[in-house]
Amino acid sequence: MNAVLEVRDVTKEFTIHQFDKTITGCRNISLTIEHGAFVGITGRSGSGKSTILKLIYRSYVPQNGTIMYDSRDLGLLNLASCNERVMLQLRKLEIGYVSQFLNVVPRTTAREIVEQAVLEIGQDHATAQSRAREMLAHFELDESLWDSYPNTFSGGEKLRLNIARAMVKHPRLLLLDEPTASLDVHSKTRVRELIERLKTEGTTMLGIFHDIEFMGGLCDREYNMQAGFLS
Ligand SMILES: Nc1ncnc2c1ncn2[C@@H]1O[C@H](COP(=O)(O)OP(=O)(O)OP(=O)(O)O)[C@@H](O)[C@H]1O
Ligand SMILES: [Mg+2]
Repeated sequence: MNAVLEVRDVTKEFTIHQFDKTITGCRNISLTIEHGAFVGITGRSGSGKSTILKLIYRSYVPQNGTIMYDSRDLGLLNLASCNERVMLQLRKLEIGYVSQFLNVVPRTTAREIVEQAVLEIGQDHATAQSRAREMLAHFELDESLWDSYPNTFSGGEKLRLNIARAMVKHPRLLLLDEPTASLDVHSKTRVRELIERLKTEGTTMLGIFHDIEFMGGLCDREYNMQAGFLS
């Protein structure tokens, strides 16, 4: 397979038992992402964009379909059904995810969060320290915040930290859920620069953007989600 990721006929429905109701997350989604490509997803709120990323990251398990991922270390895998241990390894070493909302790790400073990400991919302490510094500086997180706990950070500061943590690993596949929402134009530009750099280095990316024009020229293909379907 020349593609890094091949999603075929994936459907996710949520059953709300309390109300005896079924909600469609996404339906019969198919998409292919070639190695090194940067693919964008756009679409209205609630149309199922985040659901697709969560299925790939296996925060959700689909009812139907396959999500074939060409792993660097483990060969071809179906992320819809591979075991949890494999999934944990992929999240640590190959697949990065910038969620729409930051989950703050308790009692861990901003600097430690980014350093830990580098240590997870097997780098030594000195490398972790220098890469973390470089990343926090790139996103212009105020130095006075580096050794603080992010639970009190502003929305934009949390988002920049979240992106720094995912990007510092140079993952093979990076999933980005609105990485530029709530950022000012200057910070957005820093994100764009990093995306550009990762792309040159061969990272494959799938990102949700409501202002995809901002990524103009970088995005190889765009999918539009409409009420659970891709067009
Ligand atoms: N865990 C869940 N339980 C129940 N319903 C869910 C769950 N996750 C998503 N949904 C529903 O699935 C649909 C798609 O949600 P999703 O978060 O994928 O939308 P989105 O396109 O990312 O929207 P936004 O642009 O607002 O982030 C929505 O109707 C949402 O309410
Ligand atoms: Mg979303």
